[in-house]
Amino acid sequence: MSSFTKVARLSEIPEGRGFSVDIQGRRLALFRSGQKVYAIEDSCTHAEASLSMGFFDGEKVTCPLHFAEFRVSTGEVLEGPAEEPVKTYPVRVAGDDVELALD
Ligand code: FES
Repeated sequence: MSSFTKVARLSEIPEGRGFSVDIQGRRLALFRSGQKVYAIEDSCTHAEASLSMGFFDGEKVTCPLHFAEFRVSTGEVLEGPAEEPVKTYPVRVAGDDVELALD
């Protein structure tokens, strides 16, 4: 059973763009769509650009460097040049607390 760790407040995550958090030695990108929050590794699998700096449309993030697209719910690549999926993390929203399972 995974344990969840509070990483942010829902109210501080903007809609329509990423929010970067450093937690337990990892840099993650959070994306909010309404009350739903997604968490992925904040590093593009193509050349390590910060995906939290990318463009988010509510479902996918577009890398700001070479424009690969990833589905934030699954990490799958929707558009190259990236070929490898990005790691995702389970997210739980409890009131204004955003919690992640990191292991
Ligand atoms: S670094 Fe993201 S597409 Fe190249």
